[in-house]
Amino acid sequence: MSGESSDTPAVELVDVDKAFYGVKANDQVSFQLARGEVHALLGENGAGKSTLCSILAGLYRPDAGGIFLEGRAVTFKGPKDALQAGIGMVYQHFRLVPNLTVAENFALGHPDVGVRIKQKELYRAAEELGERYGLPIDPSARIWQLSVGEQQRVEILKLLYRDARILILDEPTAVLTPQESKALFKTMRQMAAEGRSVIFVSHKLNEVKQVSDRVTILRDGRVVGEVATRDAEPADLARTMVGRDLELPSRDARTGFGPTVLAVEGLRVQGDRGLEAVCGISFEVRAGEIVGVAGVSGNGQRELAYGLVGLRTPTSGSVALDGVDVTRASVLEHIESGFAYIPQSRLGMGLAPGLTTEENLALKAFRRAPYTKGWRLIAAAFRDEGARQIQQYDIRGVRLGLPIRLLSGGNLQKALVAREVELEPRILIARSPTRGLDVGATQAVRNQILSERDRGAGVLLISEDLDELLALADRILVMYEGEIVGEMPAEEATAERLGLLMAGEREEVSP
Ligand SMILES: Nc1ncnc2c1ncn2[C@@H]1O[C@H](COP(=O)(O)OP(=O)(O)OP(=O)(O)O)[C@@H](O)[C@H]1O
Ligand SMILES: [Mg+2]
Repeated sequence: MSGESSDTPAVELVDVDKAFYGVKANDQVSFQLARGEVHALLGENGAGKSTLCSILAGLYRPDAGGIFLEGRAVTFKGPKDALQAGIGMVYQHFRLVPNLTVAENFALGHPDVGVRIKQKELYRAAEELGERYGLPIDPSARIWQLSVGEQQRVEILKLLYRDARILILDEPTAVLTPQESKALFKTMRQMAAEGRSVIFVSHKLNEVKQVSDRVTILRDGRVVGEVATRDAEPADLARTMVGRDLELPSRDARTGFGPTVLAVEGLRVQGDRGLEAVCGISFEVRAGEIVGVAGVSGNGQRELAYGLVGLRTPTSGSVALDGVDVTRASVLEHIESGFAYIPQSRLGMGLAPGLTTEENLALKAFRRAPYTKGWRLIAAAFRDEGARQIQQYDIRGVRLGLPIRLLSGGNLQKALVAREVELEPRILIARSPTRGLDVGATQAVRNQILSERDRGAGVLLISEDLDELLALADRILVMYEGEIVGEMPAEEATAERLGLLMAGEREEVSP
């Protein structure tokens, strides 16, 4: 462990309880965070990690138990109170104001800004902090112009600007590229070396192993383990987390595929700012085949998916499903002809946050039986179908009649995948389908994708997670600056080879 550490924890939770609608999200939780350590929090989706973090950050008040800061009991009336006491959190879902600049976001909620701190000083502070912590940022940029990774930097710098001594990062790497994650780990170590304390929530055991000093494991709201990282075996951590042994499924060697399901020819799609994002690409996906698309985010993958599922009309080229042209078809026509789509952002693009879980599950299928008979909607079908899918896909934490946004991240994703595969699509297009999911949920979603393939659907798996692509795809394409710069059967793919292509290195073309 780096930095000096005294015996009194920087902050401590003692026997904390927190329930939501009768569900115990934190149950007798005791947790110590030492000075100068990076402390990882592990646990399945819904285990109570975000709840624990939010209690420390003053967002939730515990129902019972206490918070001790440097040994003194404290109560926080809200996040402002906690920040005043030196505890700041970067939430799983960011809270920046999109229309303000980076510097203006720094100023929000700061007690001295406007009185003693001027605009120019804010700019300088943002720049200096960014440089010092290896998180460079343009202070005059508006938040909406920034990538997610950059927005996260702003959130972290904002806390450092307020001189937070305790920084809570709730699944920060779920939205980062591998390179960005690496940079963040360096920053985290630097903060710890300065005597700050960092809580790091992640589902990726290799990340936890790489960056943390200690690990606390939660299961069903309770602390079930606490170990020094150097003594922790990844397999043991996984077992403690889920209470059983787990093996992630991967594809088996495949030989024959069916006929071509999806044929893409010379496809061009525009990006958000009018520039071409997909620059004339062609490929095919066959029945029973999983084709992976690797690439660093921002190289046209999003626009490719939009162009394929009808969310954005291509400027030229063609898309055909089972030989039928769908290039200019609407989203609804795409769904009806056999497309299913698992988007990267679950709430918003994927699910309707305010509707219930049953309603969300029916969202794409309600025009068909059993939901509809003639012109009538069958109310009982929503209830029965909902119950069946919740059970079959192991969607946990559902409460009847309550909006789906109250589910934990992994359960949201299970619901989304359930809805899409229930359509029995001809082609399933999935973007980073297991991002932010725990091992158990990852296993469930991977199995769903494999069983869609076994049913004879074509699958296009767009992901930055090379491990996942290597585990599932039969063939891998690499996208770089809107073009396909490499294609290989999975047997010939390695992380190194893909990584080089993703960074723009071209390979010699062999005949
Ligand atoms: N504001 C809320 N209202 C109702 N229920 C909630 C709320 N916040 C959390 N819960 C429930 O409390 C439990 C714990 O949720 P929490 O978000 O802490 O889990 P998590 O470990 O962070 O999961 P994930 O890995 O998916 O982010 C879940 O059952 C969740 O549905
Ligand atoms: Mg969470």
